[in-house]
Amino acid sequence: MTARRTHTVTLIPGDGIGPEVTKAVVEVLEAAGRQTGVAFAWHSFAAGAEAFAQSGSYIPRELYDSIASTRVALKGPVTTPVGGGFASINVTLRKEFELYANFRPVKNLPGLATRYPGLDLIIVRENMEDLYAGLEHVVVPGVVQALKIITEKGSTRIARFAFNYARKHGRKKVHAIHKANIMKLSDGLFLSCCRKVHEEFPEVAYHEHIVDNTCMQLVMNPYQYDILLTENLYGDILSDLCSAFVGGLGLVPGANLGDACAIFEAVHGSAPDIAGKNLANPTALLQSAVLMLRHLDESEMADRVQAALEAVYTDGRHLTGDVGGRAGTQEFADAVVAALEALPAAS
Ligand code: NAI
Repeated sequence: MTARRTHTVTLIPGDGIGPEVTKAVVEVLEAAGRQTGVAFAWHSFAAGAEAFAQSGSYIPRELYDSIASTRVALKGPVTTPVGGGFASINVTLRKEFELYANFRPVKNLPGLATRYPGLDLIIVRENMEDLYAGLEHVVVPGVVQALKIITEKGSTRIARFAFNYARKHGRKKVHAIHKANIMKLSDGLFLSCCRKVHEEFPEVAYHEHIVDNTCMQLVMNPYQYDILLTENLYGDILSDLCSAFVGGLGLVPGANLGDACAIFEAVHGSAPDIAGKNLANPTALLQSAVLMLRHLDESEMADRVQAALEAVYTDGRHLTGDVGGRAGTQEFADAVVAALEALPAAS
């Protein structure tokens, strides 16, 4: 089918497994685009250590300019040095473009045996504040202070995002996750904002759970949750925990959303232990791309990519090692493209 529409998208392949999973996802999107009359103009940029080696900056000016103009990016993981070194590229981009909502659906794929079949929950994580504000300093040698920033504005808008999503998509419950028994002022403010926003959404049930208890409750019975509304750090940790319920980090997608721009990326990192070995599972980035297609109003294409992905899982012969298969990244991507071609023709 000849292209009827072209989307210009900023592409950040990232490092570690990033280039492998990004290549796989771009191949699938281009195949789905050929079927549905959608073309992509990819503006591709390095970020992090690779960008520094090429251009002398960790996030090149052209990358900022590209996201400001395309307003949508698909991003692979970028390694962040532990301890010293440069600031996280992810955190920097989220702050620069005010991507205040991190949206992470945790859902089982068909055909994959997991401990919690049929699980379908969403993590809505505040994406700019908390200990991720990056405000740390040495008070005196041997004593370091890190500032946990929680604001009324930030807490109110992430709570409104979660409740709005629940209303729009018929979700029944929001649980605010906190540690306000200890952090009475900061987590206390977060909770008071959540309670206030809840008053505007009486049809959505609202509960509060303390974060340590939430970890236990999640492992015992994750079905009790629908939307988990969290500050930045708790959401980061709970995302990896919840990914294990549906098969691991190779599967769970994410979207960083602001009022002007959006960056779509998997929950997982650069996985240096398997990088460059054709072992990585591109499903998490592919499902992030499906979220991107819905954001771009390409719902038919999004449905087709999701259907092809699910067909590959149902079939089970071309899965990657992290979910019990023997296929490499490329074989998996080829299987998704073949499954797209086996679908009935697009309208
Ligand atoms: P990680 O998510 O990269 O890896 C954790 C474990 O999950 C590893 O055993 C890895 O092999 C496995 N895994 C992750 N993604 C997978 C996939 N697609 N397919 C199969 N297995 C997969 O977490 P880790 O090791 O803590 O972090 C590595 C680096 O990534 C760090 O520098 C960290 O800062 C960075 N990172 C970057 C993120 C981003 O760019 N959005 C997010 C999280 C971490």
